[in-house]
Amino acid sequence: MFEQLPAIAPDPILGLSAAFKQDTNPSKIDLGVGVYKDENGNTPILKAVAEAQSRLLASETSKVYITPQGVQGFIDGMLGLILGQQSSVIKDGRVAAVQAPGGCGALRILAELLKRTNADTKVWVSDPTWANHIPLIGNAGLELATYPYFDKAQASIKFDEMMACINTEVKAGDVVLLHGCCHNPTGADLTKEQWHVVKDAALKIGFIPFIDVAYQGFGVGLEEDAYGIRLIAENVPECLIAASCSKNFGLYRERVGLAAIISSNSETKQIVQSQIQSVARGIYSMPPSYGGALVDIILADTSLNQLWQSEVTEMRERMIQLRALLVDNLAKQNASKDFSFVNDQKGMFSYLCISPEQVQKLRKENSVYFVDSSRVNIAGINHNNVETLAAAIAGVL
Ligand code: LMR
Repeated sequence: MFEQLPAIAPDPILGLSAAFKQDTNPSKIDLGVGVYKDENGNTPILKAVAEAQSRLLASETSKVYITPQGVQGFIDGMLGLILGQQSSVIKDGRVAAVQAPGGCGALRILAELLKRTNADTKVWVSDPTWANHIPLIGNAGLELATYPYFDKAQASIKFDEMMACINTEVKAGDVVLLHGCCHNPTGADLTKEQWHVVKDAALKIGFIPFIDVAYQGFGVGLEEDAYGIRLIAENVPECLIAASCSKNFGLYRERVGLAAIISSNSETKQIVQSQIQSVARGIYSMPPSYGGALVDIILADTSLNQLWQSEVTEMRERMIQLRALLVDNLAKQNASKDFSFVNDQKGMFSYLCISPEQVQKLRKENSVYFVDSSRVNIAGINHNNVETLAAAIAGVL
């Protein structure tokens, strides 16, 4: 019976990795999937993670199921990291949360919860947004709409248009998906003042903010990157948070994430907690333990936590330097476009604001791989490939 199914084209991001592997050009450059790489192009296990693995191996005595909500120390540690140790919503018992299989798992659990709450929920996503937001939320059966976000011609956020859309089209009970920091794919983040405007609009209109935070620590710092989330969490009565440990803990394949819901009071929180556990039970029963256990060990131990924070700082600072390196090299190649905006973008990604045809030409003729939208993974740049890369980009302009 399956012969009637159509074959599906490779995923726009993951398909690039497969194409890159097959390319035999020794000078090929991979700026596709969002994975941190060091100067040698490797994605090593963080030292804090390696130490946590040894401790876990020495102390784990059973592989019996963990609880449906996941490792409680992981949940508490992550909520402190995201919402802040002084968070009033945590103290007031208003946060329901489960450990999820990756940030993707968290997004899907929250989408399913929205569907259960109101099957007609409309979710607004930024134009553009991370490509996988569409199936993760849309396949739960929710209606999706877009709000304007990024102006490719100006290489900046079009905040006035974004707010005009939100103020006129978004209704009470709609959900607005926001990127907590390091916007994927553009690298263009809201300023503090802009977060305040969004928060005020949420209060006035009554929409529910849904914040995806997959790159905390990769923008300005672990605390600074949480500004918008904390502002919303402390001031808007209800919101949803999907967090990922793939990037800042380098735990990609372990699939570690957190789905959290802030309710307006602690009684509703109890109901929501039972609902998300039931959603999870109906999809995958309970989360894998391993990655969450590692994060729990790291966050709970002062010295390991410090080591991890220093590794996050190292990754962030390297990516900031790579932005400058790319911009300098493009200028040296006399590129006919000013790429200095790349220095202002945050996190792992940058939108180069070139056309899909130019991106495809780079792939075909120079073996430089990145997404058609012109999103590049900054961490894939290094001192060995930057000159070749800049010459290739300048060549297709
Ligand atoms: C990305 O955006 O490249 C990463 O989040 C990996 C993925 O699953 O798409």
